[in-house]
Amino acid sequence: MAEFAGAIPTALTSAEAAQLRILACDGLVLELGAQYGASTIVLAQAAHWVHSVDWHQGDSMAGHMNSLEAYFTNLRRAGVANVVSHIGRFDEVLSLFESYRFDGCFLDGEHDRASVERDTSEATGSYQIHDIACASLAGGSKSEGSGALGGRDQCRRRSS
Ligand SMILES: C[S@@+](CC[C@H](N)C(=O)[O-])C[C@H]1O[C@@H](n2cnc3c(N)ncnc32)[C@H](O)[C@@H]1O
Repeated sequence: MAEFAGAIPTALTSAEAAQLRILACDGLVLELGAQYGASTIVLAQAAHWVHSVDWHQGDSMAGHMNSLEAYFTNLRRAGVANVVSHIGRFDEVLSLFESYRFDGCFLDGEHDRASVERDTSEATGSYQIHDIACASLAGGSKSEGSGALGGRDQCRRRSS
């Protein structure tokens, strides 16, 4: 497993982090699958707000571990204060967002086809998402799904 953002274990590459910054740019972003918070921090550094969902008990691909304490430690060390952390299963938490309109969603849970299709279906269920990026299918390209970024190639932040 590679390390990122100050030695946080993650499979995220620099190129994928750059794509996430574009996805998140100044927006309201949903993250499904945070683990130790590497992608959460990347998103938060570019986004207006991030809602991050993970039950922090791992899965069949990432391995079964409790990542909750390390996740909060890493966010605190990174100094990001614009993350709302939801501790629970995707299917249980997503119903909270019925009235939300997300600018982007990063889906990075289990990577087998059935899980990706289930999670994508849940993620696009009852609220609006403008862009969705999916980490990968097992054995597939890591950037698969990022074509949904809709032609934006850089982050132009709104002036405040
Ligand atoms: C690949 S890791 C996420 C890695 C992280 N995005 C990064 O870039 O470092 C997948 C995470 O998804 C979580 N996860 C998988 N399926 C889930 C589900 N149905 N509900 C909640 N969390 C889930 C696991 O607990 C694990 O922490």
